[in-house]
Amino acid sequence: MKYEVNDPVRLTDDGRAILAIDQTLLPGRVAYIRLETPEQMFDAIKLLQVRGAPCIGIFAAYAMFIEAKVFAQVSSDKEHFYQQLHKFAKYLSAAMPSAVDLSWALKRMERTAANNMRRSFDTIVEAMRREAVQIHEQNIQTCFTIANYGLTLINDGDGIMTYCNAGALATSRYGTGLGPILLGAEKGMDIKAYVCETRPMLQGSRLTAYELVNAGVDTTLICDNMAAQVMKEGRIKACFVGADRVAKNGDTANKVGTYGLAILARTFRIPFYVFCPTTTIDVRCDDGSKMTVTERDGDEIKTEYFKSPVAPLEVKCYNPSLDITPARLITAIITEDGINYPPFDFN
Ligand code: MRU
Repeated sequence: MKYEVNDPVRLTDDGRAILAIDQTLLPGRVAYIRLETPEQMFDAIKLLQVRGAPCIGIFAAYAMFIEAKVFAQVSSDKEHFYQQLHKFAKYLSAAMPSAVDLSWALKRMERTAANNMRRSFDTIVEAMRREAVQIHEQNIQTCFTIANYGLTLINDGDGIMTYCNAGALATSRYGTGLGPILLGAEKGMDIKAYVCETRPMLQGSRLTAYELVNAGVDTTLICDNMAAQVMKEGRIKACFVGADRVAKNGDTANKVGTYGLAILARTFRIPFYVFCPTTTIDVRCDDGSKMTVTERDGDEIKTEYFKSPVAPLEVKCYNPSLDITPARLITAIITEDGINYPPFDFN
């Protein structure tokens, strides 16, 4: 892939901060922000400057390493060091409680510290650096494997509908839901991507369309409310989406609007595929009824990304961040372990 979004987050050369593409500025500007303090890191996730479930996990791993270095310098003893690390992990996980990859990466980094607690501070910190790099590299490999499985679901000339952004910007390299399309394009396949714009934060039009156009994919952007018409016209062979959290029974939390698309796909007998690494599967969550939906600021609906407000400023808004697609509407869930068909029972 030729364009600049392959690795949306990385460590600075001095290892003291994270450089991240500010995804709120795309597609107009590719600008990197330097994130060093806990508050900067928290805000970057909260404001969706860094976003996409696996990408947030990679980001959190580097964040733990960076803060571990700081804590190692100011801690009187290992107990104090570990307490501070734990406190930071709890703080960062609150920035996006719905993203399983975030808590998964934070726990894995805490465990790395705990496993090395008898060693010197330098050794603990170095072990954490290596773990963060490994989380990043594993995700690259995982996405590639997922993309290859997904490619077996596509034929040349197919129209694929996507929602939100599950590409390189949300992970690293190939992405999850976009992986098969990007890989297919690299192999010279003619895939026609239909991208839903994904109101209110427009991850589809700003990020997915940007990634696909840069990768040379035949890309058509539609407003979210046009999906039914496009499906009815027979243009869509399958829907590919990512996931923020998948329950044991396959119920899937993803960007709000995913559920509606799954209902439409069922109506038009179009297969609906969910793509995610196994790190996004929450085996402690039995089903979607146990998932919480956080609410975001109503200004995202009224003013964000518009030159002037598109609603009276005093109007009440309801802006749920995600919705939960029941497993019965999902044709298969594709992970690095393969293509999983219902009944889903993840362990
Ligand atoms: O709120 P966002 O922009 O982080 O929403 C992201 C999604 O909905 C993605 O589909 C999900 O995180 C999976 S990313 C591979």
